[in-house]
Amino acid sequence: MPTNNERELELLQAALKVIDNAYVLWGFKVGAAALAEDGKIYEGCNVESGISGLGTCAERCAIDHAVLHGNRKIRKIAIVIEDKNVEKTRPCGMCLQYIKDFSEDDAKVIMAKAKGGRILSESVETKTIEELLPFSYEMKQEALDSYLQS
Ligand code: THU
Repeated sequence: MPTNNERELELLQAALKVIDNAYVLWGFKVGAAALAEDGKIYEGCNVESGISGLGTCAERCAIDHAVLHGNRKIRKIAIVIEDKNVEKTRPCGMCLQYIKDFSEDDAKVIMAKAKGGRILSESVETKTIEELLPFSYEMKQEALDSYLQS
């Protein structure tokens, strides 16, 4: 049984592995990997569009990938960005809300930078989604359930 730390490293490696698949026209490449409720890892990369405002971030791509395979919750999500592009790796505001929508408050967000094809260990940070987005929008569970049943 892998430890929590081993699972987080595995997620970071999975996010790093897909970073080069990102479809980038104006920004930079991002890789993500979500550990879903079924215990499997679902990767994602950002996909940009020539139409400003279109396209998706790596985190939302990974969560959509998990949902596609029948998951409604993710337990952890890792995000990796090249060192040259960011001061710190952080999900954007839209992705924070999306992570929140598909997780419990104690879900872990693991953020790291990469250089030369490796995770920079000194850059790895882990926070809960509640720490990153304490004042989130939230629908009532009964309302959500009624939509999901219809
Ligand atoms: N991006 C992500 O995919 N995830 C993040 O956490 C931050 C930003 C994408 C959006 C855009 O395609 C590019 O990175 C530059 O902002």
